[in-house]
Amino acid sequence: MFTTSVIRGSPKLTRDLYVLISRSLFQKSSSMSSQKPKVYVTRRVPQDGLEILRPHCEITQWDSEKPVPRDELIRQVAGKDALFCLLTDKIDVDVLNAAGSQLKCIGTMSVGYDHIDMAECRARNIPVGFTPDVLTNATAELTVGLLLATSRRLMEASQSVRDGGWGTWDPCWMLGHGLDGSTVGIVGLGRIGVAVARRLAPFGVSRFLYSGHSPKDEAKEVGAELVDFDTLLGSSDFVLGCCALTKENQGLFNKETFSKMKSSAIFVNTSRGGLVNQQDLYDALVSNQIAAAGVDVTSPEPLPTDSPLLTLTNCVVLPHIGSATEKARGAMSALTGKNILSFLQGDKMPCQIK
Ligand code: DGY
Repeated sequence: MFTTSVIRGSPKLTRDLYVLISRSLFQKSSSMSSQKPKVYVTRRVPQDGLEILRPHCEITQWDSEKPVPRDELIRQVAGKDALFCLLTDKIDVDVLNAAGSQLKCIGTMSVGYDHIDMAECRARNIPVGFTPDVLTNATAELTVGLLLATSRRLMEASQSVRDGGWGTWDPCWMLGHGLDGSTVGIVGLGRIGVAVARRLAPFGVSRFLYSGHSPKDEAKEVGAELVDFDTLLGSSDFVLGCCALTKENQGLFNKETFSKMKSSAIFVNTSRGGLVNQQDLYDALVSNQIAAAGVDVTSPEPLPTDSPLLTLTNCVVLPHIGSATEKARGAMSALTGKNILSFLQGDKMPCQIK
C-alpha cells in the first residue's frame, strides 16, 4: 500500500511511518486473530488439514504422537469453536460440557465414529464431520493383505526362515488355502466391503456373500449375494468383518458365531476390535475350531504384548494400520480440516455424519 518511494522520502518520516504502519497492522491482525474461530487439534496430524485451517482459525494443538490425556482435553476444549479429534479421543458428555456452548462443530479424522457420543452431539445440534471414501482403498488393500497373510501363512513362513525351521523344500510343508474358488463372506458390505470384493474378484473367488438388513445396490457390481448371517458364517471360507461398530454388534464375533464357521475358515477384521470377543477368538483358534485369523484392530488398542492371541501361529495381528498410507492419512487430515472450516464459514460440511 505504501510505496518504497514514500518511505524513502525522509528518514524521520520513514521511521514514524514504519512505526505507525506496523502498529496499525499489528492491532489489525491481533484484533482479527481474536475474531478467528478457535480450533483444538487433539494430536500431531498430517499438515494437510492444519494448512487448510491455519489462515482462518486460531489453532491450539496437542502436538504429540501420543493421545492427549483426558484432563488436558477437558481443559483445552473449553471455549473452542471446533474440535479436530481422532478415533482415540472419547468425545462424550463430559467433553461436550467442558467445551461449553461455544463449540460449534466437531471433525473426526476417521471414518469410524464409535468414539463419539452422536446422540449427545445431535441433541446439542453439534454437527460432526468424518472422513469416508478417502481411506477406502488403503483399508481394502490392507484387508486383502491380511487375507493373503493368513491363508498363505506368510508370517509363519517368514519366521521359519529366521529361526531355522526352513529345512529342505517339502511338498507337505506350510500348506495353506488359496483364494481361488473360495467363498468370501463380507459382514457389512459398505464402501470398504465393496472395495475389498472388487480387489478379490481377480483372485478367482467364486462367491461373495454378504449379510445385512437389506439388499445393497453396490452388491450387483461384485455379484455379491445377500444371505442371512448364519448362512454366511457356515458357507464362507473367509469371513470378513467390515461393518461399523455399533451398540448392537458389539461382540458379534463370539463363541457362538465362531462355532458356526467352517473349521477351515479364516476370520479377518479390519473394522473395530469391539466387534470381537477376543477370548472367544483365542479359544476358537487354539482349538482349531477355525483355521486362522487376521486382525488389524483389537480391544484394547494397543493390544498388550502378553495377549494370548500373540502366542498363536495362526493369528496375524496388525496395529490398526488399515488407512496408514501417506496418501490416505493426508487426505483424512485435509477432509477433517475442510469439514470444520466449511461449517465455521457457514457452509455445509463436505462429509457430515447423518
Ligand atoms: C477409521 O478412520 O475409522 C479407521 O479405523 C482408521 O484407520
